[in-house]
Amino acid sequence: MIQDSIQAIVPAAGKSTRLKNGRNKLTEHICGQPMIVFATKMLQSLHIPTTLVVGQQKEIIQHCLETHNVHATYISQEEPLGTGHAVRCTQNIWHKDHILVLNGDVPLITADIIQQLFEKHLSSDAAVSFVMAHNTDPQTGYGRVVKDTSGKVAIIEAKEFIGDPSEHCCINAGIYIFKRTFLEAYIDRLNPNKISNEYHITDLVALASAHDLPIATIIAPFDLVRGVNDQHELWAAEQIQRAHIIKELMENGVRFSVAHNVHIDLNVKIGAGTYIGCGAHILYNSIIGENCTIHEYASLEHTILGDNSTILPFTVIKNAHIGSHTQIGPFAHLQEATIADRVIVGNFVEVKRSSLGSDSKAKHLAYIGDAQIGKGVNVGAGTVFCNYDGTEKQLTIVKDNVFIGSNNTIVAPLTIEENSFTAGGSTITKDVPRDSLAVARSLQINKIGYAQHLVKKNKKNILKPIPKAGEDAGTKIQFLAAKRTTNDPIENDGL
Ligand code: UD1
Ligand code: CA
Repeated sequence: MIQDSIQAIVPAAGKSTRLKNGRNKLTEHICGQPMIVFATKMLQSLHIPTTLVVGQQKEIIQHCLETHNVHATYISQEEPLGTGHAVRCTQNIWHKDHILVLNGDVPLITADIIQQLFEKHLSSDAAVSFVMAHNTDPQTGYGRVVKDTSGKVAIIEAKEFIGDPSEHCCINAGIYIFKRTFLEAYIDRLNPNKISNEYHITDLVALASAHDLPIATIIAPFDLVRGVNDQHELWAAEQIQRAHIIKELMENGVRFSVAHNVHIDLNVKIGAGTYIGCGAHILYNSIIGENCTIHEYASLEHTILGDNSTILPFTVIKNAHIGSHTQIGPFAHLQEATIADRVIVGNFVEVKRSSLGSDSKAKHLAYIGDAQIGKGVNVGAGTVFCNYDGTEKQLTIVKDNVFIGSNNTIVAPLTIEENSFTAGGSTITKDVPRDSLAVARSLQINKIGYAQHLVKKNKKNILKPIPKAGEDAGTKIQFLAAKRTTNDPIENDGL
């Protein structure tokens, strides 16, 4: 069993300067998961006890691992004096026969590569074994594996390498297994590098070679051992991870219209027969049912969507539980929403901290905040649930089969009981009993024949004389207004 004789050290205390965003690269997300979680989770899957070497951002890294249920121990490297120094900091906890050192910034590494390396390490009885990959790009920042004419092997860092990369086409992947006895004997013999002034773990390879100790290597696909130092490498690693996710979904019967510009996170599940449109983002543990359609530029985060549902373009959904045969969008915005089966939430409708029962509809231009809406309810266009009194959020309860007319303002807290109607344009401020019609708006008055009067009045205003030079225009307008008020009995009725 691999875990019986091996323990892992993950150097994670680097400065991340090449990322140029002031953050620790190991906590940057790749398809919704912090980078450091990839390698450590993989080690956990092999039951290899793991120790991380951490620097000033120990708490952030520890928090990342804990929230992803990765168990590890931590050792501090007070100053980031290089990868060799990081490993040296862990000296006191070496207790297994072999020490695996795995750089924290190699997120796409697989358990299979570790197992292959370990097998080769044991079968070669090597002092040090490491993973290589082919890369002839002269621009890459990887250390290159070189052999001199006398057969001595060394890893030369990119800054010092002056040879031909196509001749020395093997790069060091940053994944090593050392015999503990070798490490104990040689770790203190590392000297600071002349250029970087740091202690390089890679120099242990040259030391082993100089002492004619056996060295073993395996070759891995470059894409699986890519390191992430800068924004471009971060993008590339995420691109590869995303391609894996999408390929697996395709194999399970998911159709993508423009697969290269959607984003799907690592733990997302999508049922067979579902169609994902261009630019869709499906994030953080979302679960999409079978035969759904997610249209262009929809974004779903922490969302569960039932079978046969449709999300129309430009819809944003976060923390929602949505039933089957529903239709949401276009341009809808749902947060902390529970939407039952066969519901329609239409364009420019926002739903926040609210629930809608089955067969309910809010098809156009509405804000539904802090509302519990029953089954078969219609929310008319332009309706606003006024949930905020300036201090606290208040709850509205709308029972089954209620019909809320258009352009209502529902001033919470209140309850509208079963089967009731509210008239269009109402401002509802009180509870509505069941089977009732609530009307809360000004009464309409029809002034018979008044249209003629308006036409005449408007004509008079259009013919109003233009003030001559020197004449006081303000006084004249005031005079006309005063005259209209006193001489017009209909206008004087208060409307
Ligand atoms: C390293 C290797 C290089 C290899 C490449 C593979 C060295 C000197 N070079 O270069 O040969 O091709 O990885 O990806 O090892 N860290 C610490 N403490 C430190 C410095 C770094 O814990 O003082 C950690 C970092 O957080 C990171 C890992 O060690 O997780 C590797 O460090 P990094 O600076 O990325 O090494 P590279 O320059 O990529
Ligand atoms: Ca690196």
